[in-house]
Amino acid sequence: MASPSWVLAIEKYRPSDVFPEPGIPFIIQLEGQEIAVLRISNGLIAYRPQCPHEGFSLRKVRPDAEGFLECPLHRFRFNVSDGQEAGGRGRLACFPVKETDTGIYVAL
Ligand code: FES
Repeated sequence: MASPSWVLAIEKYRPSDVFPEPGIPFIIQLEGQEIAVLRISNGLIAYRPQCPHEGFSLRKVRPDAEGFLECPLHRFRFNVSDGQEAGGRGRLACFPVKETDTGIYVAL
């Protein structure tokens, strides 16, 4: 299996820069793909902000208190830790993400 290709997604310009804010999806374009980076209680997640059901945009959806992103169109709920839909009806496309001294990297 090939190792992931890490791409610099968000560069830190100063040590005080913190992207993204907890609970607020930070939307970026990365190699032609729209990616949301979200800071949660135990780290960062990165995912495609598009519902896998019928493609509704999840760009403005914030996780609820239980850690789920709920699509407004048909109420599918996706676990932010792994992208799995609560009823087993699909999975949000998620990407490995890591934070270093220089920024946040996403593996595509
Ligand atoms: S488009 Fe998201 S649940 Fe149907």
